[in-house]
Amino acid sequence: MSLTVGVDVGGTKVLAGVVTPDGEVLATVRRPTPSQDVNDTARVIAEVVRELDEDFSIEAVGVGAAGWIDASRSVVLHAPNLAWRREPLRDRIQERVDLPVVVENDANAAAWAEYRFGAGQDQHHLILITVGTGIGGGAVVNGEIYRGHFGMAAEYGHTRAVPDGHPCGCGASGCWEQYASGKALVRFAKQRAREDATSARVLLEMAGGQADAIDGPMVTRAAQSGDPASLASFTELGDWLGWGMADLVSGWDPQCIILGGGVAEAGDLMSVPARETYAKVTALRGRTEVAEVRIAALGNKAGLIGAADLARIR
Ligand code: BGC
Ligand code: NA
Ligand code: ZN
Repeated sequence: MSLTVGVDVGGTKVLAGVVTPDGEVLATVRRPTPSQDVNDTARVIAEVVRELDEDFSIEAVGVGAAGWIDASRSVVLHAPNLAWRREPLRDRIQERVDLPVVVENDANAAAWAEYRFGAGQDQHHLILITVGTGIGGGAVVNGEIYRGHFGMAAEYGHTRAVPDGHPCGCGASGCWEQYASGKALVRFAKQRAREDATSARVLLEMAGGQADAIDGPMVTRAAQSGDPASLASFTELGDWLGWGMADLVSGWDPQCIILGGGVAEAGDLMSVPARETYAKVTALRGRTEVAEVRIAALGNKAGLIGAADLARIR
């Protein structure tokens, strides 16, 4: 059986797995993303590949990277939340692992996985939004990943949501990513905890009383136990997400929108307000037929599964 490895390189973790032609994951390895050193990142990617290659016979490697990939799918031109700037990632990895390597945008890879094996299997035109450290975007159009002319299509996270808004890692400010990502969720929660400690009692307790120490998983856990400030932060995030989804429908008119990424795993907390706003805005715009909203089926493995599949059909 032909096996490939997929590696998902995100803002916080590197997750690699051995994947079968049916999208089944046979083994995974996980490491933290080296903070700001690009050589370290290439080294860690090569390490996880070699580790998996010891136990399985690997044919090729697909890397899903959280950044703007050039049309030749080898160079990371820019990564808003990582240190890559014109980084020849494909060659850097290829020289270390001695296997064919394909590089794809992480969200494109996840969209591909959901289309092939997940929530979008019966869809011809789909859009995927990953809500994690940043916002990832992918589009499958007529059964193919839509990459645009320069390779960087579907970077929805960096469309402007707020004039003179919050500064973004891409260099601009007010990007949608600053209002509808995991980072935004944490910012909303910190601010609420500072303004009204009573409504954030549970959350602050988890953070040892320090608003600065609040992180994403804490906001999710606190919201799950009913913490008002955490619940309100999810509603705020969901509202921003819903507006953006309605904008994407105006631009792409897909059959369905799939919500994925780490924050999507918080389930209803994010998706209920997102769906509500999405329905409200599309109706206001007079849309009678709108894309169905689905939750990603492959969880945090979508990126690696998609990257591995793209390496197989390279
Ligand atoms: C980057 C995308 C990436 C997304 C999710 C964004 O900030 O611009 O390229 O797909 O984060 O990792
Ligand atoms: Na993308
Ligand atoms: Zn941006």
